[in-house]
Amino acid sequence: MNTQELLETIKKETEEVKTLNELNDLKVKYMGKKGIISELNAKIKEIPNEEKKAYGEKMNELKNGFNDVYDNKKQELETEELNKKLANESIDISLPATHIPMGSPNILEKIIEEVEDLLMTMGYDVVDGPEIEEDRFNFELLNIPKGHPARDAQDTFYLKEEELLLRSQTSPVQARTMLEKKGLEPIRMICPGKTYRRDDDDATHSHQFMQIEGLLVDKDISLSDLKGTFDVIAKHLFGSSTETRLRPSYYQFTEPSVELDISCFKCKGVGCALCKNTGWITVAGAGMVHPNVLRNCGYDPSIWSGFAFGFGAERLAMLKYGIGDIRTFYLTDLRVNNGFDRMEAQND
Ligand code: DAH
Repeated sequence: MNTQELLETIKKETEEVKTLNELNDLKVKYMGKKGIISELNAKIKEIPNEEKKAYGEKMNELKNGFNDVYDNKKQELETEELNKKLANESIDISLPATHIPMGSPNILEKIIEEVEDLLMTMGYDVVDGPEIEEDRFNFELLNIPKGHPARDAQDTFYLKEEELLLRSQTSPVQARTMLEKKGLEPIRMICPGKTYRRDDDDATHSHQFMQIEGLLVDKDISLSDLKGTFDVIAKHLFGSSTETRLRPSYYQFTEPSVELDISCFKCKGVGCALCKNTGWITVAGAGMVHPNVLRNCGYDPSIWSGFAFGFGAERLAMLKYGIGDIRTFYLTDLRVNNGFDRMEAQND
């Protein structure tokens, strides 16, 4: 056996190998069970004892020689393959990036959350009420009996039974909360939610809109508590220089009733198109809870008194973001939301 010659052959054959598969074939050819080197190795049994040592050394030389050549080639081929792969997968950084559109919070929800966050710091609970409401809660307990003309202004959608309707205001949640507390505990709650009316949709009317109701019932509550609370909300939403005023009004469930006005943030009270040249903008209806309502809902008016208010959520958002048409909120045009988000970011 000429070890050197065999090693030369192996080297030559290895040089010609182009792929890892071919290299593996070569390994089988030499080192496999029936491989050339393995068979030579097996022959050691037939070698006379005195030559066995020299034969074994030669075999080791051969095996190590093969392994060195094999390992080098393997590494070379693997590096080659990796480079090829990297070249194919290289990223062209001059290509335009994939545009991943970012979502942004709904601006109505944002306004509602702002009011919620503020009022929670003042001890108010945020509560929920059903959108399909009973006539009793939406009207009767609120001092609006059947046939009362005040119902005309709040015509809504009725379900099969006349007694069920889509609530025309969030005020029924006042009645629900008072009844739940059974005339025993003071109440501070707000309830934001959807409301419905049979209005023809136009720039300022929508058959579906949102209100934020507020109710506070306790002992010795007066109109000045309402004024103070409203002042805090108005300054929080529209800036610290905002002034507030209460204007007499009429609601069936409050006595006295008021409209809550803020000084026009656009013209600072001088008069402009937004405030219709009055210098003031109405943002909510409110008043002292009517004794009949307290009584209807289990609160003794000789012990308890309270105030209530109702904001239109869209109106707040329209004023805050300068939106001219209430239908904007229900068009599901995402550019609206994203636009206001950008506006906010710029103002921050
Ligand atoms: N629910 C009234 C409306 O939809 C708004 C309102 C006025 C709510 C006075 C109140 C309130 O809680 O006290 O027009």
